Amino acid sequence: MSFQRVFSGIQPTADSFHLGNYFGALKHWVRIQNSGVETVYAVVDLHSITVEAQQDPKQLRRRTLVSYAQLIAMGVDPQKSVLFVQSHVPEHTQLAWVLQCITGFGEAGRMTQFKDKSGKEGTDHTSVGLFTYPVLMAADILLYRATGVPVGEDQRQHLELTRDLAQRFNTRFKKTFIVPEPLIQKATAKFVDLQNPTGKMSKSAQTDGGMINVLDDPKQISKRIKSAVTDNEGVVRFDRANQPGVTNLLSILGAVTGRDPESLVADYDGKGYGALKGDVADAVVGEFEPIATRTRELLDDPAELERLMALGAGRARDIAAPILKAAYDAVGFVGIQ
Ligand code: TYM
Repeated sequence: MSFQRVFSGIQPTADSFHLGNYFGALKHWVRIQNSGVETVYAVVDLHSITVEAQQDPKQLRRRTLVSYAQLIAMGVDPQKSVLFVQSHVPEHTQLAWVLQCITGFGEAGRMTQFKDKSGKEGTDHTSVGLFTYPVLMAADILLYRATGVPVGEDQRQHLELTRDLAQRFNTRFKKTFIVPEPLIQKATAKFVDLQNPTGKMSKSAQTDGGMINVLDDPKQISKRIKSAVTDNEGVVRFDRANQPGVTNLLSILGAVTGRDPESLVADYDGKGYGALKGDVADAVVGEFEPIATRTRELLDDPAELERLMALGAGRARDIAAPILKAAYDAVGFVGIQ
């Protein structure tokens, strides 16, 4: 049970992934895949219907396809990685039920993302699915006996829950699951909103100008970066507490160039924020434009996308089905041939 396998997932909740998703997680997915580790990646569509605003069937279908295509365009290779859509693999919900039965009500209620989102939706509209969502995420990971899970900082608490559930299952029933490690890269763990640099860049951010989408028009990307909120210091420093906007720009540039963001500070000695913004804008456009073009090409061939999704689902089930069976046996469910 000691071989290395990495699992991660992303929700299809927008018409494009954003910069935070890309540099915080997806770029690492590709790097890990290319380092020769066995990688399993999913578009987690089941996760994306927990709030009513996302329950539009046409929109969900479109976003699932654009998400799948974008992952390939970014460099996830459906031959090298197992790349699939979560709802094609029923084992996820089958394991989630068992894990729900060993999760405490209070334990699930302590998840900060649940607290944030349920606050926004209002008590009457908060679904039970939003509450149990982190348990489904645990099932995603444990079902593949993943050893590592590359995510951004916002998912750390869900990973802790996953580890607790794996340990609990193993001691209560039988050693079945691997306790996974979160793979969170410090330099790219949290990209902030360009207009409100103390909050995470996210789909649900209040300000429209605060986020960059991978599929955005290059002119718009440039404009948003050049209008990013900075400060009155006038000196480029890497200082998250006092200069969060400038620090975020340095982090983005570091993520594109592969350089340590703190080491970039010296390049802007005696230069203003305009120079930094211009370089960030050019770098991000240079990275995202080819991805957008490739995504459009892939979407123009739905038959090929479907073929790849079916390939991914089959390979995912080959791994997941025996592990689900082992878990069901351990619980005491009677098996039949
Ligand atoms: P999701 O779809 O919200 O985000 C996908 C990935 O992007 C990262 N991310 C960020 N990283 C840095 N800065 C940001 N501003 C930023 N915003 C988002 C997220 O941390 C994530 O890695 N619950 C997960 C999806 C999921 C999953 C899984 C992940 C379901 N099952 C199993 C890993 C393993 C989510 O909602 O991510």
